[in-house]
Amino acid sequence: MTILVGYASKHGSTESTATSVAQRLREAGHVVELRRLDRIDSLDGYDRLVIGCPVYASRWYGPGVRFLKRHERALRRHSERLWVFTVGGGPTIPAGANDVVAPFAPVEHGYLRGRIDRGELNIIERTMIRAARAPYGDFTDPSAVEAFADRISESR
Ligand SMILES: Cc1cc2nc3c(=O)[nH]c(=O)nc-3n(C[C@H](O)[C@H](O)[C@H](O)COP(=O)(O)O)c2cc1C
Repeated sequence: MTILVGYASKHGSTESTATSVAQRLREAGHVVELRRLDRIDSLDGYDRLVIGCPVYASRWYGPGVRFLKRHERALRRHSERLWVFTVGGGPTIPAGANDVVAPFAPVEHGYLRGRIDRGELNIIERTMIRAARAPYGDFTDPSAVEAFADRISESR
């Protein structure tokens, strides 16, 4: 299959996850294009569309929301080829992510945990993390990332 893996990422962990998904799909024999969402013009010609976006303050990160709006018609038309993953720091997917993705009815909306690295954050972000009492750390689960990619590979 020819597969587009598109991602938005502010601090790099969704980019890392998208890269791992793309690599796993390539290892399974697929032709994969890995691109930032704001560098995607057309969704034509792909057998699968895989879209990843992180959560900030319980909402999908802006570039991800803008991508969904920009390509709304094409994405809705091809929901049977659409796979989405949200990346967050917490143990469960924030409701705001479901709200924005559900109208597109993807085959799967996966939740994959990412990384919160204090050294990468500005003072406002650190204050938000402190207020939310969220822990810093790398919560990436490589086996969950691989399993997500494998479900795409195995889909028909
Ligand atoms: C300021 C800030 C707010 C965040 N808010 C949430 C949140 O509401 N829910 C959540 O699950 N994760 C939250 N996170 C964690 C991010 O979703 C996580 O670090 C993600 O991996 C970031 O992806 P990126 O590195 O691709 O930008 C927050 C992180 C920061 C720095």
